Amino acid sequence: MSYSKYLLGLMNQAKLKNKTIVLPEGEDERVLEAAHIIASEKVAKIVILGDVDKINSFFSEKGWNFDGIQVIKPETSPNLAKYTQLLFDLRKDKGLTEEDAAKLALNYNYFGTLMIKAGDADGMVSGADHSTADTVRPALQIIKSAKKGKSVSSFFLLVFDDKPYILSDCAIVINPTDREMADIALDAAESALHFGMKPKVAMLSYSTYGSGKGEQVDKVKRATELAKEDLLTDYYKKLDIELDGELQADAALDAVVAMKKASQSHVAGKANVLIFPSLEAGNISYKLLQRLGGCAAFGPVLQGLNAPVSDLSRGALVEDIVGVIAITCLQA
Ligand SMILES: CC(C)(COP(=O)(O)OP(=O)(O)OC[C@H]1O[C@@H](n2cnc3c(N)ncnc32)[C@H](O)[C@@H]1OP(=O)(O)O)[C@@H](O)C(=O)NCCC(=O)NCCS
Repeated sequence: MSYSKYLLGLMNQAKLKNKTIVLPEGEDERVLEAAHIIASEKVAKIVILGDVDKINSFFSEKGWNFDGIQVIKPETSPNLAKYTQLLFDLRKDKGLTEEDAAKLALNYNYFGTLMIKAGDADGMVSGADHSTADTVRPALQIIKSAKKGKSVSSFFLLVFDDKPYILSDCAIVINPTDREMADIALDAAESALHFGMKPKVAMLSYSTYGSGKGEQVDKVKRATELAKEDLLTDYYKKLDIELDGELQADAALDAVVAMKKASQSHVAGKANVLIFPSLEAGNISYKLLQRLGGCAAFGPVLQGLNAPVSDLSRGALVEDIVGVIAITCLQA
C-alpha cells in the first residue's frame, strides 16, 4: 500500500508515542488490514476484539503475523468480570443494574471503551460497521468530557495535496448553542495544534461581517465573541490561536474574496480550522469536499474527552482507518 506524504508523517509521529489502540470491529476485513499495517509498521500496538479462530485463519490466509497484535474475544476474556464491575460502579447511579451491566460489557464498543477506562488500552477506533451514536455513546458515558459541563465534539482532518484542514463539528453536536459553538472552535484549534498546525479559525456562516441577517448569523456572532473572550484568558493566551467570524466559506479560504469582504481580518483568506454553525452544515460540507474535492478525510475524531476515541465513516477505506488510528495515538 502506498501512503500520502501527510499520512506517512502522521504514522511517523504516532510511532514515537508507542500507544495501544483497541479495534472492536474484528469481523471487518478493512479493520484487520489496517491493524496489520499499523502493527507491522510499528505505529502502535493493537488489540482486536473478535472471533479468535476466524481472525487467525484470515491472517494466515494473508501470510500476516501477529507481532504487536493481541486478539481478544470479549465473551471468554478473563477481564470480563472486572470490566462488568467497572461499568456497574460507574453507571449504577444512572440506574444501570448488574444484569444490564453484564449484557452491556459484552457489546464490543463498551468492552473496548472499558479497556481504556481500566488502563488496558490508550484509545479506541470503531465505526467501520457501527453508527456514530453507537460508537460514541459508551465513550460519552464512561470516558466522559475532560472539562466538566463542556460538550464533547469531533473534528475531521481533511488533507488536500498534503495541506491539512480541520473541520468541526461534523459528527456529534447537532445544533450547538453559541457557547457550544465557541467551545467547539477552541477545542478544534487545540486539535489543530496536535498536528503542528498554526490554527487560524473561521467561524462560518452565510454572512461575512454582517452582510447577511438572521438568527443563525446572530448565533455565530455571539459564538465568535465568546471564543475571543476565552482567548484572552491565561490558558489560551499561551497558545498561538487566531480566530475570527462571522465569515462565509469563500471569505475564509480565498485571499481575493477575503480582501473584498473582510480586509481587516487576520484569519480571512488563510483559515485552516473551519467551524460550522450546525451538524447539518458540517457533515454535508465534509462529505462534499471528500467526494467532489477528492481530499482524504480522517475522522470523525472526538475532542474534549478524557481519553481518545475515534469514529469512522462506514464508507472508510483501509487508508482512512490507518490514518484515524495514527491520529488517535497522537491524541493519547
Ligand atoms: C452523540 C449522541 C449520540 C449522543 O446522544 P445520546 O446517545 O442520545 O446521548 P444521551 O442524551 O442519551 O446521553 C448519554 C450520555 O452522554 C452524555 N452526552 C451526550 N452528548 C454529549 C456531548 N456532546 N458531550 C458530552 N457528553 C454528552 C450525556 O450527558 C449522557 O451522560 P450520562 O448518561 O452520564 O448522564 C447524539 O448527540 C447524536 O446522535 N449526535 C449525532 C450523531 C450523528 O448522527 N452524526 C452524524 C454522522 S457522523
